Amino acid sequence: LSKIEIKLADIPEGKNMTFKWRGKPLSVRHPTEKEIAAEEGVNLAKLRDPQHDKDRVINPRWVIVLSVCTHLGCVPIANAGDFGGYYCPCHGSHYDASGRIRKGPAPLNLEVPFYEFTDEDVVIVG
Ligand code: FES
Repeated sequence: LSKIEIKLADIPEGKNMTFKWRGKPLSVRHPTEKEIAAEEGVNLAKLRDPQHDKDRVINPRWVIVLSVCTHLGCVPIANAGDFGGYYCPCHGSHYDASGRIRKGPAPLNLEVPFYEFTDEDVVIVG
């Protein structure tokens, strides 16, 4: 299927769910208020691939990224690593809760796919 519909009410705050989309793992994260504030406050000068959190999300309550490490394509583990986002165990890349690369060999942030909300609690990716 080229598109996937996700019911967001199934994903509690602070949790992350992974779906299969176009043969790849797709991560949908429901960050806490604290995580949202922390990611929005990150100094872009400290980022390898500078991108504001607000430019990576449509609604800050939902972080939707491809769970494919931008180093060599392993699948990072959600809610892990030094920055509380994603950790790729293959060679040790740490991503923050917005999916931005913070430490390790990966060159780029986790990719944000095209998606849109059809109502407050339903998103269609693709
Ligand atoms: Fe993720 Fe190398 S593939 S760190």
